[in-house]
Amino acid sequence: LWASARGILTDLFLIFIGYRIFAVELISTNQNPVVQEFQRAELSCIIATTKTANPRIEWKKIGSKETTYVFFDNKMQGDWANRAQLNSRTSLVISNVTRADKGIYRCEVVAPEDARIGAEININLTVHVKPVPPKCHVPQSVPVGKSATLQCQEKEGFPEPTYNWYRNGEALPLDSKSSSKFQNSSFTVNTKTGTLVFSEVQKGDTGRYSCRAMNAVGDAWCEDSVMEVYDLNIAGIVGGILVVLLVLTLTALGICCAYRKGFFINNKQDGNSYKTPTKPDGVNYIRTDEEGDFRHKSSFVI
Ligand SMILES: *[C@@H]1O[C@H](CO)[C@@H](O)[C@H](O)[C@H]1NC(C)=O
Ligand SMILES: *[C@@H]1O[C@H](CO)[C@@H](O)[C@H](O)[C@H]1NC(C)=O
Ligand SMILES: *[C@@H]1O[C@H](CO)[C@@H](O)[C@H](O)[C@H]1NC(C)=O
Repeated sequence: LWASARGILTDLFLIFIGYRIFAVELISTNQNPVVQEFQRAELSCIIATTKTANPRIEWKKIGSKETTYVFFDNKMQGDWANRAQLNSRTSLVISNVTRADKGIYRCEVVAPEDARIGAEININLTVHVKPVPPKCHVPQSVPVGKSATLQCQEKEGFPEPTYNWYRNGEALPLDSKSSSKFQNSSFTVNTKTGTLVFSEVQKGDTGRYSCRAMNAVGDAWCEDSVMEVYDLNIAGIVGGILVVLLVLTLTALGICCAYRKGFFINNKQDGNSYKTPTKPDGVNYIRTDEEGDFRHKSSFVI
């Protein structure tokens, strides 16, 4: 029994060795390469075993909708010809990657003289992109005691950037309460969405604001924008004066228009009383030729 068991084991071992020797096998030094945009990327695919002298090598880019050939029929396809080549027989080297190059690439080898003739390996290429200057939105003036929201957004960077806010060149903490220096302010910063929210702005919050977007490969700023905080009382007074001025202007305009209209109709209507019946009650001030009476009535109408 022992002998036959040993025999079976030996047979299995030989079959295993034979399979290893006669099957093409691929390995990669890095199946998840990460590179910066505009740099060189190496997609490692190495034939570990084969007994075929000239195995067929293919590289495909596996898209969610379609799969395209990168290396096929022993040559680079399309625009890959200008920017990619094979290294150490099977690895794919892209000389200048762009963000569009990220994705899954498949290295396929067919070795007809091996027992198992085909093998493939997937490489997931990640392309990091530096942020560009973010777009910032800062309200120009806010009354004391009101809330205010400042926004910062950047859309190119990958991985998605995080955001920090600066006032007059000085970094703001994520929460004003966490720093004695900002005890008179009341704000919070959301580093993920890029918003800086004041629950109640104070005089001391006046300043030049800017924001920085940052990720693993770089950072970028938006230009300073001034946010001014004005006193609500002064605003109230100014507003009141403006309202009074507006009312006075409208009144003056109204009087003026009524005068002009009145004169116009008055001159035209001399001896033309046929229109009178169509006039609604209460505006029947045109029929008299006496100036004083007309004036009195028109101002009454206004
Ligand atoms: C890489 O490509 C970008 C645009 O596709 C180009 O602006 C840049 O000069 C290239 N860099 C190198 C080193 O070829
Ligand atoms: C490729 O890598 C990226 C980043 O590491 C990951 O988010 C993504 O899910 C991977 N894709 C596949 C198909 O594994
Ligand atoms: C906060 O306000 C108080 C009273 O107005 C003032 O004395 C103090 O200096 C302010 N603190 C800071 C850090 O500006």
